[in-house]
Amino acid sequence: MLVASNRGPVSYTVREDGSLQSKRGGGGLVSGLSAIGPDAGALWVCSALSDGDREAVRRGVGEEGVRMLPIAADVHADAYNGIANSVLWFIHHLLYQTPLEPVFDAEFRRQWASYETYNRAFAEALAEEAAPGAAVLVQDYHLCLVPGMLRELRPDLRIGHFSHTPWAPADYFALLPRDIREQLVLGMLGADRLGFLTHRWSAAFSSCVQALDLDVAARMALSGVPESFQYAPKWNGPGHRTWLGVHGLGADADFLRERAHRPDVEERMAALREEIGEGRKVIVRVDRTELSKNIVRGLLAYRQLLDDHPEWHERVVHVAFAYPSRQDLAVYRDYTAEVQRLAGEINDHYGTPGWTPVVLHVKDDFARSLAAYRLADVALVNPVRDGMNLVAKEIPVVSDDGCALVLSQEAGAYWELREDALVVNPYDVLETARALHDGLTMKPEERAERTKRLAAAATALPPAQWFLDQLQALRELPPS
Ligand code: G6P
Repeated sequence: MLVASNRGPVSYTVREDGSLQSKRGGGGLVSGLSAIGPDAGALWVCSALSDGDREAVRRGVGEEGVRMLPIAADVHADAYNGIANSVLWFIHHLLYQTPLEPVFDAEFRRQWASYETYNRAFAEALAEEAAPGAAVLVQDYHLCLVPGMLRELRPDLRIGHFSHTPWAPADYFALLPRDIREQLVLGMLGADRLGFLTHRWSAAFSSCVQALDLDVAARMALSGVPESFQYAPKWNGPGHRTWLGVHGLGADADFLRERAHRPDVEERMAALREEIGEGRKVIVRVDRTELSKNIVRGLLAYRQLLDDHPEWHERVVHVAFAYPSRQDLAVYRDYTAEVQRLAGEINDHYGTPGWTPVVLHVKDDFARSLAAYRLADVALVNPVRDGMNLVAKEIPVVSDDGCALVLSQEAGAYWELREDALVVNPYDVLETARALHDGLTMKPEERAERTKRLAAAATALPPAQWFLDQLQALRELPPS
């Protein structure tokens, strides 16, 4: 069994004395896949992302079961920053400000050629490593072309692809040039099975395929949505069939509960309590500082809450952890600056000598995140669009006293948690402010009851099972 993803389980930095320091990779993909562990006998093929990673490859340092591909830094930058994060991420999360962006020009075509090179490097490495008939699980929007390329090199393999993001609606996907859309879709249809986090994203992918009007025949499930596509011309014969499946990644309760009660988390809880102040309610959010996470509108909603409900002054603190992400991209740096500016503005306007309304931390610290999870009275998870959002699933699992969850209708997690969450439209700042107030005033017994049900729904498909389900479904498919 092989797994392929851009980000792997570890990343390295070179210390001043020349030694290498390793750090766990961030984001939902790594959280989900980390459950595989080295004992499963899988090989995890990933990119060398930093100079430290490339140095680790050069020195032959690495973790068992992980192969890092030292793709040329400029090719990787074009593919990862240029195409994956500035085009595909934007398309699937509806992030373009369409009067100005996107512009598909010669620079875009140059970067696209790097995206192809980078996908080919993965396909070749996988073809080289895979035993006859092996299962290969390719992950996410960075590697959409890999299934098709790998099928041409190794038709004997069982190839799966899993999307950890939403999938764009067909009209929005159509912003991309037609040949690019075709390459993406046909690259993915090279897989035997495509996995998505929710039915919504799977249905969106199907509409994008159908909108292209290619020589692809859909077979419908009883529910009336496509369950597989058969694509004839490219792989000849009777046509290659690609199945669709949905696997809603859940939180890892055992890991989280154990980890959240270690001494380093207790220490951080004490420090946070100090920062928050005695007897105050706590609204928590924890995100990568990511455009899709909607941190700015979250702060605007909090400001609205303070405007509408002066009774909360001095009695509530918004603990916001916004960890650095994709800082090579100016748009992410600008967003980070805006988050910091707005948090500062709220503190200047409302704060008093004994009360800091927003406690913002930008340095990544997993133990401190868990400490905040345990302390939260209200969790704010308001992405404009999100494949799943594991924070929404993790907080109810580790919460000490129960926590009200304010949740965006656009997060994949909405479909599993909506009954017990306070659901909001992420663009509607007034509604979000009202939901924060409702969360803060929810009766303790109701909060505890809802948290219990949220935790049960959130852990229905823990990462190890999520992964095994995909593998089993891939292995059980009829021969293509
Ligand atoms: C999302 C993506 C993952 C990605 C993660 C972190 O969860 O689906 O593929 O690894 O964000 O982003 P990064 O660019 O730092 O890998």
